[in-house]
Amino acid sequence: MYQLIDGKLTAAEIRGEIADAVREMQKRGVRLPHLAAILVGNDGGSETYVAHKVKDCEEVGFRSTLIRMPSSVSEQELLAKVRELNEDPVLDGLIVQLPLPDHISEDKIIENISPLKDVDGFHPVNVGRMAAGLPSFVSATPAGIIELLKRYNIPLNGAECVVVGRSNIVGRPVSILLSQKGIDATVTVVHSRTRNIKETIRRADIIIAAIGSPGFITADMVKVGAVVIDVGTTRVPAPETKAGWKLKGDVDFDNVAPLCSWITPVPGGVGPMTRVSLLLNTLKACNR
Ligand code: GUN
Repeated sequence: MYQLIDGKLTAAEIRGEIADAVREMQKRGVRLPHLAAILVGNDGGSETYVAHKVKDCEEVGFRSTLIRMPSSVSEQELLAKVRELNEDPVLDGLIVQLPLPDHISEDKIIENISPLKDVDGFHPVNVGRMAAGLPSFVSATPAGIIELLKRYNIPLNGAECVVVGRSNIVGRPVSILLSQKGIDATVTVVHSRTRNIKETIRRADIIIAAIGSPGFITADMVKVGAVVIDVGTTRVPAPETKAGWKLKGDVDFDNVAPLCSWITPVPGGVGPMTRVSLLLNTLKACNR
């Protein structure tokens, strides 16, 4: 019988730990962590994500500032705002919610966020430092996955991990972290051009599914006893729900779960860990 890796519960525990740390800071009379988020335009998904980030900050006792800019904002104006916030000594973390309108270069904006405030861990300095095993901000989803595996005592040393997907935000960084000294997994990254993808995934002790293709991982790809981490969060139509959609992971859960030792649900697996990782990075930025 498989067991669920409960990201919702784990994230709630971590929020409790963060709230304790904030109370300690309050007692010592030091300035509390403060996250600034820039939201350009009013994309529905981005509005929801940013609203979650602000709410999460409030819940643990952090300060937060939301800066809204119209989708017509110029790249120069956005850059000027980023530079202004980089210099603001009361702000610890600074994120610019993505995606940005087509006329603005996301790379250019990210490269202009101070690496010391880059709690998204997207700046090339942080990506490079992470890859080199140096202290850095690690982006929220990869950091959340590693924390979840550690807290569930999933054996990683020497384990065969197959990461499905090579995105800059999840697949690539999580593959680097898993092979790092101290974690010591053996890592294979598979993607759309991989030959024998099924056979390769079936070798895995641990599967990290991060492709954004609902139900991609089917039972014939999974070894009995495998640990499955599902990073997928695709909105699929669901007329029976109030919103008219629901989240579907990259794993065909109903057929895969019976083969697993451990598996994350969607929702309630990696998603909540991503949210709490941003808080951990903001706390770290403040304590630096
Ligand atoms: N858009 C989707 N995910 C993210 C994220 O983690 N950070 C930012 N800044 N934008 C996003």
